[in-house]
Amino acid sequence: MDRIRIIGGAPLKGSIPVSGAKNAALPLMIASLLTSDTLVLENVPRLSDVRMLKRILNNHGVGIGVAGKRPGETVEDGERVSLSAASIVDTLAPYDLVSQMRASFWVIAPLLARMGEAKVSLPGGCAIGTRPVDLLLMALERLGASIEIDAGYVIAKAPSGGLRGGEIDFPKVTVGGTHTALMAAVLANGSTLIRNAAREPEVTDLAECLVKMGARIKGIGTATLEIDGVGKLGGTTHRVLPDRIEAGTYAFAAAMAGGDVTLEGISPTLLQAALDKLAQSGAEVIDTGTGIRVRSTGRDIAPVDVTTEAFPGFPTDLQAQFMALMTRANGTSHITETIFENRFMHVQELARFGARIRLDGDRAIVEGVPSLKGAPVMATDLRASVSLVIAALAAEGETMISRVYHLDRGFEGLESKLMRCGAQVERIRA
Ligand code: UD1
Repeated sequence: MDRIRIIGGAPLKGSIPVSGAKNAALPLMIASLLTSDTLVLENVPRLSDVRMLKRILNNHGVGIGVAGKRPGETVEDGERVSLSAASIVDTLAPYDLVSQMRASFWVIAPLLARMGEAKVSLPGGCAIGTRPVDLLLMALERLGASIEIDAGYVIAKAPSGGLRGGEIDFPKVTVGGTHTALMAAVLANGSTLIRNAAREPEVTDLAECLVKMGARIKGIGTATLEIDGVGKLGGTTHRVLPDRIEAGTYAFAAAMAGGDVTLEGISPTLLQAALDKLAQSGAEVIDTGTGIRVRSTGRDIAPVDVTTEAFPGFPTDLQAQFMALMTRANGTSHITETIFENRFMHVQELARFGARIRLDGDRAIVEGVPSLKGAPVMATDLRASVSLVIAALAAEGETMISRVYHLDRGFEGLESKLMRCGAQVERIRA
């Protein structure tokens, strides 16, 4: 297994191009199952989760092509991927594929909507809490599907005339639930109302792509979505939204290690709550018009309390990274996780750098220390592991991070992006 060695202590200076968002690319790729025409996605990040989803979609019969480099394109531009589900050959998503990535469970919705049936393994993914799928299944049932669970598989069947519109009230905000409900409703007979829909930018990106494919959706970007089902969707070309979590991660890294970093190609509005907290901690955050510039001395970091919330609140996917920043604050901060239980696995690894963190239920109490020291640490889940990278960049001396396959699931070109800013980062291949 690959490892990453980081020699910390140097400020970060330079610019980082922000990649396409993993969490937008995955549902967009899955939406290709809704049409027999070709869906072309631009700016798809090169990540192991994307590769895994290509395999899963291949298995259903989706033909996938990746365009070669075009004039003017650099390695920072994501891939241009064409997905063509002219005929779906298999409505089964098997355990060995789905268990590796939770989002792949979402194929259940387009398979059911277009083919009238789907058999999908219950999902796996990051070990952050129980992460049930009850609300996703509730949404499908509200559209007339029958659901049976047998030997670890969900077997979903549409009524003989196909799915029909209905009312879906989510008791809590769920991104995957909203993606699933949208993809099922766009091809259902009649209209569907989704209440308490997730407003995450990745949901909006999916909805906008579906509209380009011919779907009729009102209320995009709000908590109430109204969908008028259509008989058929067509192909389109869509550019994947920039990754707000990647941008926030490097913004926090610059604030902690000190320096002057510009994140190119992302609007601050995609992560305003996180940038507001960053500014409160003392970093200078500037909207450049084409990106976000973060300047910091890396010293005198003010303690700031954070509570994770659904969008537009502070994202749970930046909680671990913000905690890393707070370990060096000059005071005590409180970080409350309300979205996922058990999403504090980074705490014991951060302690290996000398951080002082206590856990009290869903709250972490972080007592800032003047400096961190490099240490051997282990990546646990995707976002937790990048918090270790941030801590390592700011720590004195050498850090060796093992199990970096977690990072490869969600951060495109991590080492090269950090090296552009002067960081000493090296991948040691197994
Ligand atoms: C997505 C993101 C993930 C992010 C999360 C919250 C992708 C690929 N993943 O995950 O990075 O951290 O949104 O912003 O986009 N829940 C239920 N029953 C369900 C579904 C969810 O109780 O059927 C709960 C979950 O356990 C969690 C909360 O709802 O407590 C939110 O989860 P959800 O928004 O669905 O997360 P994902 O879509 O899995």
